[in-house]
Amino acid sequence: MEQENIIIAVDGYSSTGKSTLARDLAHYFRFKYIDSGAMYRAVTLYLLRNGIYDPQNKSLDETRLGNDLPYINIDFHVDKASGLQTILLNGEEVEQLIRTMEISESVSQISRVKFIREKLVEKQRAFAEEGALVMDGRDIGTVVFPNADVKIFLTASPEVRAKRRFDELKQKGYEVTLDEVMDNVRQRDYMDEYREESPLKKASDAVMLDNSNLNRKEQLDEAIEIIRRYTQIFGKERS
Ligand code: DC
Repeated sequence: MEQENIIIAVDGYSSTGKSTLARDLAHYFRFKYIDSGAMYRAVTLYLLRNGIYDPQNKSLDETRLGNDLPYINIDFHVDKASGLQTILLNGEEVEQLIRTMEISESVSQISRVKFIREKLVEKQRAFAEEGALVMDGRDIGTVVFPNADVKIFLTASPEVRAKRRFDELKQKGYEVTLDEVMDNVRQRDYMDEYREESPLKKASDAVMLDNSNLNRKEQLDEAIEIIRRYTQIFGKERS
């Protein structure tokens, strides 16, 4: 197996810590990291800003979407000094703006739309041509890269996930209750699992990793073990 072409897919429910794990793995193996959820969030931000999606009555102006979609450009930028990755929407850094409750509440509706998915999947596949990568999302092991070298399906109990998300939002200064966050987590689980287009499901060849009782270091260690079992990635690790 060519090391350069290795693809590691990390899928799972919302707030399972996929991005943390995927980022840690990318850092460990020195691979590129792509947060596919951020791409759906950035498109949602664009559609809300431009009044193409109305969150009040959950309506999407398909004609305007069709016109604008080719001009919605999503990319990632890595800050050389900090090593942190941010997402760019038509050249504008929107990393913080896509992490609000407003976006979280609308993104499930947007990520159901077939031609938005097609456009983003095409872009996600193009990233793999640039070299080894870790990508996290919902359909990475099933649709985007069905031949990924390693597929990890991350899970944790809804209560644990809601608490994690709640702490994260509180830390950012949002006034939310645990019940509100729990509702949002359950709603998103339902929409992710039951939507028609690329629903969230574990690929038959994915390895399940439940991190309800694991800390960040423990989940990374388990994931590295899984990757070692499935590939010959040696010598790329940080010492
Ligand atoms: O991982 P996240 O919460 O940032 O994802 C945001 C939304 O995008 C979530 O509602 C599911 C959707 N999504 C998707 O449909 N497919 C992906 N590959 C990644 C995310």
